[in-house]
Amino acid sequence: MNNLSCLVLVLTLFTGLTSCNSDKPVKEDKVEIQKETMNFEDKHTYAKPKEAVITHLDWKATVDFETKTITATAAYNIKRAASASKIIFDTKDSLDILAVRIDGKPANFEIGATDKFLGAPLTVELTKEAKQVEIDYKTNPSAAAVQWLSPQQTANKTAPFLFTQSQAILARSWFPIQDGPGIRFTYNAEVTVPKGMIALMSAENPTEKNESGVYTFSMKQPVPAYLMALTIGDVDYKKLGAHTGIYAESSLMEKAAYEFAEMEDMLVAAEKLYGKYQWEVYDMIILPPSFPFGGMENPRLTFATPTIIAGDRSLTALVAHELAHSWSGNLVTNATWDDFWLNEGFTVYFERRIMESLYGKDYAEMLAQLGYQDLLETVDGYMEDGQPKDTHLKLDLNDRNPDDGMSDIAYEKGYFFLRLVENTVGREKFDVFLKDYFQGNAFKVMTTEAFIIHLKANLLDSTTYNSIGADNWIYGEGLPDNLPAPNSNKFELVNAQIEAWKEGTAANTLTVVDWTSHEWLHFIRNLPMGLSFDKMKELDNAFKFTKSGNSEVLAAWFQHTIKNNYVPANQVMKDFLISVGRRKFLTPTYTALKESGKMAMAKEIYKEARPNYHSVSKQTMDELLGF
Ligand code: BES
Ligand code: ZN
Repeated sequence: MNNLSCLVLVLTLFTGLTSCNSDKPVKEDKVEIQKETMNFEDKHTYAKPKEAVITHLDWKATVDFETKTITATAAYNIKRAASASKIIFDTKDSLDILAVRIDGKPANFEIGATDKFLGAPLTVELTKEAKQVEIDYKTNPSAAAVQWLSPQQTANKTAPFLFTQSQAILARSWFPIQDGPGIRFTYNAEVTVPKGMIALMSAENPTEKNESGVYTFSMKQPVPAYLMALTIGDVDYKKLGAHTGIYAESSLMEKAAYEFAEMEDMLVAAEKLYGKYQWEVYDMIILPPSFPFGGMENPRLTFATPTIIAGDRSLTALVAHELAHSWSGNLVTNATWDDFWLNEGFTVYFERRIMESLYGKDYAEMLAQLGYQDLLETVDGYMEDGQPKDTHLKLDLNDRNPDDGMSDIAYEKGYFFLRLVENTVGREKFDVFLKDYFQGNAFKVMTTEAFIIHLKANLLDSTTYNSIGADNWIYGEGLPDNLPAPNSNKFELVNAQIEAWKEGTAANTLTVVDWTSHEWLHFIRNLPMGLSFDKMKELDNAFKFTKSGNSEVLAAWFQHTIKNNYVPANQVMKDFLISVGRRKFLTPTYTALKESGKMAMAKEIYKEARPNYHSVSKQTMDELLGF
């Protein structure tokens, strides 16, 4: 390498530049990682990537459903600064470290004190030549990321099931790892599971069960730890399109294949908007209902709740959302959880653009207006609770569980900020900007500050940036006055029907033909509070809300049934809370019970339901209900 190219290399890789000569291109004693990695500090990992960082993982694991443990070896290739004497990994929930080897030879290691959110650091002493660190370990049955399900908790009810959910900082509970979103690695895996089950990861996956129960995987694109995922169950595969397919238990497959038939179209629409899909394949697995989220964007294989199977394809915006993360989040990744809005705000924006290109503006605007309502409630909640800082786009989650920051602020305030930028420069320019942003920063991390620099350099001059109050949007509280409020024509029509009903028109004569579940949702959410039993009964007779197969409609309806003591819905609500572990539904439902003086009922149901929930839902509900 000549001196000029060496200088260029150093300038690109490092912020602090020392010297460079042609024999040894880089004198700076820091690991060669992208410059953003040098510029931020992630408070939620013990890792010190500037000293020593992982680049690749070979993971070999055996999964035992009897003892609810995973026994594994994690072998990491590492890069280290010449002066580094140690490499630090994150662990959590008593991950049992059995042995550590460096380049095949036993190594010294130490597990430090446990922090309630971060877990415990695993420090491994490095030799001068160290290239590979191998860790033999065993997980604890209580590992927070992993949920072990009994056959009873699945659709087929014949085999157990397992899934991991690692975002934000739970990956460390099932493998020792440098668990920060700013640290990427490629991985290969070999996983042994009981006969009759298939293992799947966020990687190149098998599509059929085999006799041996041994499955191999490879993820060739570097990913952060929170995107490493594993699921094991008795599931089948069905191809949906050239790049898309679905995994589901056999009893769900037909319904699932119908519901998500438009996945390939979504992928085509997404590529048309913001450039090539970089992960080759996009599959989705329908998990059992205890999955704590709607969806999780594990690369190549989105994990999804079965509660989006409504029978009418009405809840597929979630698929567009998780697919969009293949660009915003998985390609360009928030550097720390304080920058979470860069993942979710961009993804919501992208999701709505995909839905708009498939189903039109009216459809997308309904989604935006539902999001706006959520946002108003979230902002009010934080203001009332004296937590105005949690309404900033850029968060400060130091000393907190990063999960606390994962609210509608990142999603919806983030979305409306981007919508404001779009309105300011026009859609054409904004789309060019976004496409370049994703391609130019692919497989890199992004801090809020780096994004602002990028935005000012490529889209908004300082005057425009200041005139829209961008800093106030990002670093300020609440909702700025120039928020581009959505306006849905479809919802105007719904409002008119609500008014008509309030003024005495019988429910069964309202004009509701061709309403989608979004219109129903808007209708239910905007019903007056304090309805009498007869009024509730009238609505239920006319629209069969209590019998709805749509989880969103049902959850919105429970708000009224609980607050208005509409007893006929109690059993359905109880069954729902016991089988569904999706936190987005649990939190408002248990909160409504709590706030309407039904704490005893809430606790009684929770006692029965809790064993069915994943740790992240348990954590939130325990706090809510004082368990
Ligand atoms: N990545 C999130 C889920 C998540 C966020 C898990 C933070 C853990 C911590 C996922 O992409 C998501 O946003 N899911 C939403 C669906 C969406 C349509 C808004 C959900 O689960 O409700
Ligand atoms: Zn998301």
